[in-house]
Amino acid sequence: MEGSLTARDRVGIQDFVLLDAYTSESAFLDNLRKRFHENLIYTYIGTLLVSVNPYKELDIYSKKQMDIYMGVNFFELPPHIYALADNVYRTMLAEFNHHFILISGESGAGKTEASKKILQFYAVSCPSTKLLDNVRDRLLLSNPVLEAFGNAKTLKNDNSSRFGKYMDIQFDHQGAAVGGHILSYLLEKSRVVHQNHGERNFHIFYQLVEGGEEDLLRWLGLERNCQQYSYLVQGDCAKVSSINDKTDWKTVRKALDVIDFSESNIENLFGIIASVLHLGNVKFEADHRGYAVLNNSPEIHWLSKLLGIPAQVLQKGLTHRKIEAKTEEVLSPFTVEHAVYARDALAKAIYGRTFTWLVNKINESLANKDSSRKTVIGLLDIYGFEVFHVNSFEQFCINYCNEKLQQLFIELTLKSEQEEYEMEGIEWEPVPYFNNKIICDLVEEKYRGIISILDEECLRPGEATDLTFLEKLEGTMGGHPHFVTHKLADQKTRKTLERGDFRLLHYAGEVTYCVVGERGFPLGHPRLSLSSSNSLSLSNSVAHTLLLSFFLSLFPCPRLGRSNTVQQSLHIPTPYLQSPSLNHSPLLLPGFLDKNNDLLYRNIKEVMRQSKNAIVKHCFPSSEPDSKRRPETVATQFKASLVGLAEILMTKEPWYVRCLKPNDGKQPGRFDDVLVRHQVKYLGLMEHLRVRRAGFAYRRRYEVFLQRYKPLCPDTWPNWKGTAAEGVELLVKHLGYKPNEYKLGRTKIFIRHPRTLFATEDAFEICKHELATRIQAKYKGYREKENFLKQKEAATKIENCWRGLKARKEREKRAWAVKVIKRFIKGFMTRNQPTCLDNSEYLAFVRQNYLTRLKDNLPKSVLDQNTWLTPPPIMQETSQLLKALYTRHMVRKYVRGVTPQKKMQLQLKGLTSSMFKGRKENYPYSVCRPFVDTRISEEDIHIKVLQTIRHERIKYSAPVVKYDRNGFRTRFRQLIFTQTAAYLVEEAKVKQRVEYNALKGVSVSNLSDNFLILHVTCEDIKKKGDLVLQCDFLFEALTKLCVVANKQNCIKVVQGSVRFDIQPGREGFVDFKSGQEFMVYRAKNGHLMVESTKAKSR
Ligand SMILES: Nc1ncnc2c1ncn2[C@@H]1O[C@H](COP(=O)(O)OP(=O)(O)OP(=O)(O)O)[C@@H](O)[C@H]1O
Ligand SMILES: [Mg+2]
Repeated sequence: MEGSLTARDRVGIQDFVLLDAYTSESAFLDNLRKRFHENLIYTYIGTLLVSVNPYKELDIYSKKQMDIYMGVNFFELPPHIYALADNVYRTMLAEFNHHFILISGESGAGKTEASKKILQFYAVSCPSTKLLDNVRDRLLLSNPVLEAFGNAKTLKNDNSSRFGKYMDIQFDHQGAAVGGHILSYLLEKSRVVHQNHGERNFHIFYQLVEGGEEDLLRWLGLERNCQQYSYLVQGDCAKVSSINDKTDWKTVRKALDVIDFSESNIENLFGIIASVLHLGNVKFEADHRGYAVLNNSPEIHWLSKLLGIPAQVLQKGLTHRKIEAKTEEVLSPFTVEHAVYARDALAKAIYGRTFTWLVNKINESLANKDSSRKTVIGLLDIYGFEVFHVNSFEQFCINYCNEKLQQLFIELTLKSEQEEYEMEGIEWEPVPYFNNKIICDLVEEKYRGIISILDEECLRPGEATDLTFLEKLEGTMGGHPHFVTHKLADQKTRKTLERGDFRLLHYAGEVTYCVVGERGFPLGHPRLSLSSSNSLSLSNSVAHTLLLSFFLSLFPCPRLGRSNTVQQSLHIPTPYLQSPSLNHSPLLLPGFLDKNNDLLYRNIKEVMRQSKNAIVKHCFPSSEPDSKRRPETVATQFKASLVGLAEILMTKEPWYVRCLKPNDGKQPGRFDDVLVRHQVKYLGLMEHLRVRRAGFAYRRRYEVFLQRYKPLCPDTWPNWKGTAAEGVELLVKHLGYKPNEYKLGRTKIFIRHPRTLFATEDAFEICKHELATRIQAKYKGYREKENFLKQKEAATKIENCWRGLKARKEREKRAWAVKVIKRFIKGFMTRNQPTCLDNSEYLAFVRQNYLTRLKDNLPKSVLDQNTWLTPPPIMQETSQLLKALYTRHMVRKYVRGVTPQKKMQLQLKGLTSSMFKGRKENYPYSVCRPFVDTRISEEDIHIKVLQTIRHERIKYSAPVVKYDRNGFRTRFRQLIFTQTAAYLVEEAKVKQRVEYNALKGVSVSNLSDNFLILHVTCEDIKKKGDLVLQCDFLFEALTKLCVVANKQNCIKVVQGSVRFDIQPGREGFVDFKSGQEFMVYRAKNGHLMVESTKAKSR
């Protein structure tokens, strides 16, 4: 850090505290000058910022620059107004207390610019939301409005603030700007009616005339020409190249909208501005008695319209005043001079009070309604010490204000600092400084102070004049080291004083005040002053002319009013009365007494109260205490407001910006040594530096210091058990502070150089992150646990609810089930009764249940007759019907699926069945054996046989065993059926041909053998007889034979024995019987015995 600090001091020294010759004013100036010429306009004295007006735009106020300075340690970057603003802001956030920045310097030194820069910095750097942006815009835009109404071009500054301004910016605990409040001091009302040569009235008049829309001007009765208005042309410079009234007008109009001014507010406001201009043009004439009269001038018409007051009432008010005699009120006419005086007083009063209304209105718009605690940064942009060639009541007030601020400065820095060192027992070489309390007392002391004496003179009955006031002063103050007049001065000093002057030895230097009323003159004209013989004498003074008009009256004064006697004794300043022609714009100016009185006739106030213009009505309230009470004078009010200001400031931490003006010509790059030296002197910069240099840059109570930095030392973190002082001692040792870098006082630690503190602060910043991470982790853990417990609780709750719900549902279900079961049982018990209420449901269930089961258990095939589900009694009939239906359905389905071949087969099987079913024992076993077309393929029939019988077409053939008719020997033969005959074939030989005509019949036994006996007609002895055959395909062969031979009735099933013809006339027998096993043999009786087993398939 050390390195970077030095590196930054490229040009001169950026902090005067580091200046070697810190007691030398010349070294101080050299440093300032060197830096000024390098455009380095800012230099520190510790935390005080010295700013020199560059009178040119510098590229150091961009958003980028703001970003650079945001959140950076004060001394880490080159000095800047942003660094100060940021430091104030961060200290406020860290310590959560109030602060104020006192910006001082003489007119044109750059105070207002500095305050705007600070405001702009906060507008950019503070956290923002849409709502906050609104506050921010209002804070920013309050400036152009206040400047339009309260600033004017003077010889010293084209945008000179003609009022003092204290602005509070309120921040919430997160550092967001959430509101604001403005206090205004001492508006220079006299400027409304009079401007010196080269100066202008308040900007708003010119902005309205130059920039106002055509319609608006027409409505206000104004012309777009400033030269038309006597209140605008006295300085003879209505147009200034550096000011663009048209653009400024637009800004102000826009700003008024943003600050929440309603259309009617705006209308009334500009109605008032226009009224003042019209008022300035009102001309009086003297009637034959010498009294002022108003000829029906157009101005009265416009005034009447804009203020909403009848023209006659206005006319009367401007030309008469009310005098209260014992019991009645009398209207006394004005002389022309008197009327002009009253008219101007009215113009000033209207404008002054409207300005107060405006400030209040802006405050309403900036007000933060939230009652939570806020911290505040105040910006005090107030006029600096003024020393002119001729100084009047206004300079007296301003310089008194500066004395008070210097007192505050001394209280807060010089005195308190040194007292603190003493209290803390810190070794310290006292720095001599001048305590200006003696001057403050001289001005403000009760009964004895200048203000008290002035008030006394103003308010006492009888012939009080500025000179009687001066005499009183001389009587009371005589001998005071800081007060001198012509009469009291020694020979040498007397030469420098006029008879109407008194001189105060202010802390910043001597100032001579002229108490008497003055007549202003154009530049270069001789000055009027009163000689001891009360005659007018002249003195040359250029500056004099610039000042004469300052503050004819100072406060918009709602409480102003006077007792009868006071009002009646109101005196018009002598020069006024002596003025030969005062048609309008008098050049005469009042003295101390008049300025202090700031009177407005009671009856003109009453006239104003009748106004239909809401703002005017508000500014002249009927509740205003009038003649009955002795009014407070301007000086007394000013004194009170300064006391109030001091009270506001004393509760806050001070920060200072001292603005210096490098030259009187508003020229960039010119550094006037004499001028700057003077400012350095009266701003007390050298004293401040000396105290800073001798002292310590930073001090904090042990508790506060320990509390902040204790994390930096393991012994003090997290809790220190001993005393705070011991803790701090340990802490600084741990941090490695060198002995000359700090001192331990009784209750505080004092750190000499900022850099030591910054190093500590940097270490703390790093440590803070680590701590924050730990705290964050703990907190997150805690929060998660909380969350978890919450969720668990919620889950249990939900679970309980859900279980309850489920249980209730279950219970309902069971109750329902019980009912259903009961009904079911009842139904079951009454199932055989006729359908009734009790059993109808049950029966329906039984029906449905049966049908459902039946649906799932239907027989798979037509033959599956036994699997039909047994129906419950009530479904007997239905079941039968369904069974029949279903059987038909299956049959139909089956039949539809039968092929012609299968059909043929079945027909044959049917035939077989008709012949053998129930007659032959082994028939059932044949049923499942399908018939085939033939059992011997044509290839297996000998060719010769084929050739022999082909013409008859073979219909069927099967292998058979033939039993010889004689002896019953067995022979394997082929049995072939053609269309006409049956053949018995042995290889290539047809052994026997039996024509179907000759076939008498076929015999088979009723047993399970496969024997068949073909009976043939045999008349011819030579022919062979009946055939005894055994065929494995008995049923098939016989069925085919029946079909081919067309002899369905030829089959005979016999029991026991079959007779057959061996030859015609010779018979044989085949006996059939059941036996243990199948046997065929020749029985002893010569019969062929066929023994077959019982019901066994072959
Ligand atoms: N930082 C700056 N950069 C550029 N120009 C500046 C700066 N400060 C001031 N000026 C110039 O100086 C002029 C006068 O400044 P400003 O109005 O702030 O003075 P002041 O101290 O408020 O005077 P008064 O007491 O009359 O109100 C400005 O209009 C501007 O032209
Ligand atoms: Mg200003």
